[in-house]
Amino acid sequence: MSQSLILAIESSCDETSVAIIRDGRDILANVVASQIKSHMRFGGVVPEVASRHHVEQITQVIDFALDKADLSLEEIDAIAVTQGPGLVGALLVGLTAAKTLAYIYDKPLIAVNHLAGHIYANQLIQPLKFPLLALIVSGGHTELVHMEADGQFQVVGETQDDAVGEAYDKVGRLLNLPYPAGKYLDQLSQTGQASYDVPRAMIHEDNLDFSFSGMKSAIMNLVHNAQQRGESVIAADLATSFQEAVVEVIVTKTRKALNQYPAQQFLLAGGVAANSAIRQALTDLIANEFPHIQLCIPPLSLCGDNAAMIGAAAHSLYLSGHYADLDINAKPGLML
Ligand code: KG4
Ligand code: ZN
Repeated sequence: MSQSLILAIESSCDETSVAIIRDGRDILANVVASQIKSHMRFGGVVPEVASRHHVEQITQVIDFALDKADLSLEEIDAIAVTQGPGLVGALLVGLTAAKTLAYIYDKPLIAVNHLAGHIYANQLIQPLKFPLLALIVSGGHTELVHMEADGQFQVVGETQDDAVGEAYDKVGRLLNLPYPAGKYLDQLSQTGQASYDVPRAMIHEDNLDFSFSGMKSAIMNLVHNAQQRGESVIAADLATSFQEAVVEVIVTKTRKALNQYPAQQFLLAGGVAANSAIRQALTDLIANEFPHIQLCIPPLSLCGDNAAMIGAAAHSLYLSGHYADLDINAKPGLML
């Protein structure tokens, strides 16, 4: 395998990130400038605010990454960038920066799918072995993906409504937790009892799809009913009940998928891969029921949005010459 130095840019949502990746697996730099503080007071990402922050940050983050890797742009082999899915205004900032660098320095441009990036974050930990099954759990997506080979994605199950991260954020908001609430809800759930009844939608259906909006509605009803009766809910118990329901659904569908599709590895991917209960439950599932399958779970630093994963995913596209034209546009609804 020939050597490659890829500068990767990620700006699909609320992190401006630039990484420099060697051979699709060594992180020479991975700078992540988070905008969370700016969005917190609104309780969610405000797209216009996100775009403006990306514009303000992008050149500094590029310089910082190059400094950290002790490299100049002349030494870089290719520029990779997230083309979608994501917020169109946010994506455009990264895309414009990447095209500009590719044009000025005469480097190939590589367009990367953000979801592929989440999967390939695992390649920064260990080499991928095919066939494999990946579970993407993020703020915008919940998908089971079967891969026969590098760059080949077959979505075999997905959410029919909310993404799991979205459900965490909405339930967290009901419990007055700060945005993005996933992490805080995860922490709170470690202190409670699963005493409330939360539905496990679609769990017994003979498919690999998910539904999380019913869980969110159930929690909402519990909170509102209690308020109407002048009673209070026990937030930690609600958090634990919700998390237990999420974990049970995820484990059940993952088990079903692993029984249906051949896999040498099972990869967890996306921001919600940081969840302590999901990590533990899937670790137990693989150890107890699929000991022949290798489990890959990224460290917390590679679960949320970052450019290192975009550089990792770009590597095989670089080797196979899958370059993008300089007139490509952002694709906010891009699928795998
Ligand atoms: O992948 P990501 O950084 O952005 C998207 O591509 O969507 O995922 C962000 C999501 C948010 O919904 C956030 O609340 C959730 O990941 N998240 C968590 C945890 N840490 C982050 N959800 C549950 N438990 C966590 N520990
Ligand atoms: Zn993401």
